[in-house]
Amino acid sequence: MPPPPLPSLASRRPGASSSAGSLAVPPSTTRPPPQPAKRGKVALAPGHGPLDWANLKKSGQNLRGVDTVLRVTPSMLKRHKTRDDAWSSFNGKVYNITPYLPYHPGGEKELMRVAGRDGSKLFASTHAWVNIDYMLDECLVGFMVSESST
Ligand code: HEM
Repeated sequence: MPPPPLPSLASRRPGASSSAGSLAVPPSTTRPPPQPAKRGKVALAPGHGPLDWANLKKSGQNLRGVDTVLRVTPSMLKRHKTRDDAWSSFNGKVYNITPYLPYHPGGEKELMRVAGRDGSKLFASTHAWVNIDYMLDECLVGFMVSESST
């Protein structure tokens, strides 16, 4: 017996039901693909990528701005809230965030929101997966203590 005739091209239009089954052209569309959710990443200035930050950390420069590890009270923390002198605490550890500002993939403005205060909640709600203790180890200023304990 001869083989069955090949299905005509017309029956291979997208979505056309035919005996061609899986040979049919997959359905297609000219609609643009959905855009991924906006994540607020900013374009970093040249020389300010993650590798540049890693190199700066290794360079031996003092990125803490202090000579010893400090006991930091809430009122001390509050005094360091300008771009050139910004501290922030994350889970009890206080970091000098000034040197990291131009390297922050979310932008300086976002990072400055936590200058002079506890940034733990904002940090956890934006990117809990980022290892802050590793990223900012060279920027450690000290540890939070209560107001009366210094
Ligand atoms: C000093 C502590 C911080 C470090 C070390 C840090 C580090 C990072 C890193 C590595 C990324 C890229 C994440 C990725 O690609 O998955 C990022 C992105 C971002 N960060 Fe931060 N960040 C800090 C604090 C903050 C704070 C306090 C905020 C909010 C006020 C914030 C907001 C953002 C946003 C909006 C993005 C871009 C969106 C995203 O990738 O999810 N960051 N940050």
